[in-house]
Amino acid sequence: MKLILGVTGSISAYKAVEILRIFQKNEHRVCVIMTEAAQKFIAPLTFETFIPGRVYTHMFDSHRDPLLHINLPKENDLLLVAPATANIIAKMANGIGDDILSTTFLAFYKKVVIAPAMNSYMLENKAVVENIARLKSRGIAVIEPGKGSLACSTEGKGRLPEAEKVYDFCLKLENG
Ligand SMILES: Cc1cc2nc3c(=O)[nH]c(=O)nc-3n(C[C@H](O)[C@H](O)[C@H](O)COP(=O)(O)O)c2cc1C
Repeated sequence: MKLILGVTGSISAYKAVEILRIFQKNEHRVCVIMTEAAQKFIAPLTFETFIPGRVYTHMFDSHRDPLLHINLPKENDLLLVAPATANIIAKMANGIGDDILSTTFLAFYKKVVIAPAMNSYMLENKAVVENIARLKSRGIAVIEPGKGSLACSTEGKGRLPEAEKVYDFCLKLENG
């Protein structure tokens, strides 16, 4: 399978490296898009150490394919956003395309999976609940966040599930 791994600005962004590695170990081809906020948590270089090309970070980059947001959907079978912030979920639910990840999503006509990861109060916020429900109703697959201790010194639901769980979920979806 060829997939796009979209990484957004969650404290759990570093776990996306494990997600990348597990897909690669199983011989899937992964390219990576990072939002600006994601790059505050982990450097593109970390992903670039493991992928043949560069991480995609910008819509307007004259040195690269100007139609990246249109061509990436053609070249890939699955878009996985992990971790998915409340912000990207809101943008996806409302058709906003103001960066390379949200715009690629708008042009993506194949399977999409999101793994929401955030503080449990954020996850319970009615806007977030409604946005996730809206995405589900449109056929977007949502990986249930895990329960446990969160980075913000609270216990609750909102953790990005382990890489194996994310991998198994995507594989079942792709084969099912
Ligand atoms: C230390 C820190 C941790 C954060 N962790 C999360 C998180 O786990 N989930 C989330 O939805 N937002 C989190 N945020 C907020 C997002 O980074 C912020 O909403 C950002 O605009 C998201 O942008 P993006 O969706 O384009 O990546 C965090 C912010 C900070 C400063």
